[in-house]
Amino acid sequence: MEDPLKDDLASARNGEAEAALSASEARYRRLFETAQDGILILDGDSGLITDVNPFLVNLLDYPREDFIGRTLWDIGPFRHIEASKAAFQELQDKEYIRYENLPLEAKSGRRVNVEFVSNVYGVDRKRVIQCNIRDITARKHAEQVDERLRQSQKMEAVGQLAGGIAHDFNNLLGVIMGYCDLLEGQIAPEDSKRRMVEHIHHAGTRAAALTQQLLAFSRRQVLRPLVLDLNRLVTGMETMLRRLIGERIEIATSLLPDLGRVKADPTQIEQTLMNLAVNARDAMPGGGTITIETANVELDDSHAREHAEVKPGSYVMLAMSDTGVGMDSETLTHVFEPFFTTKQLGKGTGLGLSTVYGIVKQSGGYIYAYSEPGRGTTFKVYLPCVEGEAEVVKGEATLPILRRTGDGPVG
Ligand SMILES: Nc1ncnc2c1ncn2[C@@H]1O[C@H](COP(=O)(O)OP(=O)(O)O)[C@@H](O)[C@H]1O
Ligand SMILES: [Mg+2]
Repeated sequence: MEDPLKDDLASARNGEAEAALSASEARYRRLFETAQDGILILDGDSGLITDVNPFLVNLLDYPREDFIGRTLWDIGPFRHIEASKAAFQELQDKEYIRYENLPLEAKSGRRVNVEFVSNVYGVDRKRVIQCNIRDITARKHAEQVDERLRQSQKMEAVGQLAGGIAHDFNNLLGVIMGYCDLLEGQIAPEDSKRRMVEHIHHAGTRAAALTQQLLAFSRRQVLRPLVLDLNRLVTGMETMLRRLIGERIEIATSLLPDLGRVKADPTQIEQTLMNLAVNARDAMPGGGTITIETANVELDDSHAREHAEVKPGSYVMLAMSDTGVGMDSETLTHVFEPFFTTKQLGKGTGLGLSTVYGIVKQSGGYIYAYSEPGRGTTFKVYLPCVEGEAEVVKGEATLPILRRTGDGPVG
């Protein structure tokens, strides 16, 4: 015989348990909904997304529907993570993966850096993957600003050191070359000693050119700044640049008609363009394109936040891009240092970009390099905009072409 009372009790207990369970579910749901980290829930076997919390939806700007029923590598922000599929496999095997810093892109194109941790666990005999996604964009940004500041302080220190040495060395060279001249005057042309003195003279001249580059890097050059129209300067150099880089490389220009004026030493700016062009040439042994671009640019506070040293204001930008081999991030952090070169012994001096750096800095400007391996390189030079009419610079380049022999015009 059934005991109605017992039944009632049992169902009451069931009801309590259900209530407790649903209360606990609601609590977890609330955690999920209000978490200040992104959370994704995936089916452990298929990898299909079954749930996404509002934080992640907001962070990446993609609607919830774009997530549900898809795999990670199907949806926008994760699509470019080449290893997404491989990572899923790894997760299946190890049941845990973690990325310290995963760069993603929100729907608006805004870049987001996240820390990404996934775990696999079992619920009701089913495998579930939970991905926790923390927004570390602000922290990454702060780190980058610190790193840039450290870089520019390092360049400052290296500049002082190099400048000090170059200065003293230059004085000593003056003495060596002076006596060389005297000796040459006293030795008859047919005398065999004459050749030796000429060798000393030649080596001295090269040493002087090197110290000159070091002086440029440490901003101790004598500049003759004029008010310049960079478009005119670029146009005037085209023929010379073409000769410098050879036939396999094309030059394209995109010069803004209403370009602002800058105040700089035209010879130095030409030197800058030549050094950049020589490097671009070296990066494109199989040919390619060099693009020279000018533009008016406002560097505002947001830019200053990224590059701590930048004074906000109006600038003229001169950019040179190539379609060459590009650089990895390690190389990029060293390019402006004197004597940094990845070229074979005798091919590069590592002084081209440090010279450029010094010239730009001494002219009150900034230079930045952007590159990725296999994706070409862009150098952007910003010079402060000034008022006034451009002073006339000779129609053609003021630099003699390839006057020096051996290692080319620059480092
Ligand atoms: N356009 C470029 N593409 C790829 N790498 C470049 C480019 N410009 C500079 N580099 C890198 O920066 C290094 C330093 O350049 P630079 O100071 O001109 O010295 P050098 O040309 O004598 O090596 C180069 O050796 C090269 O590794
Ligand atoms: Mg060079």
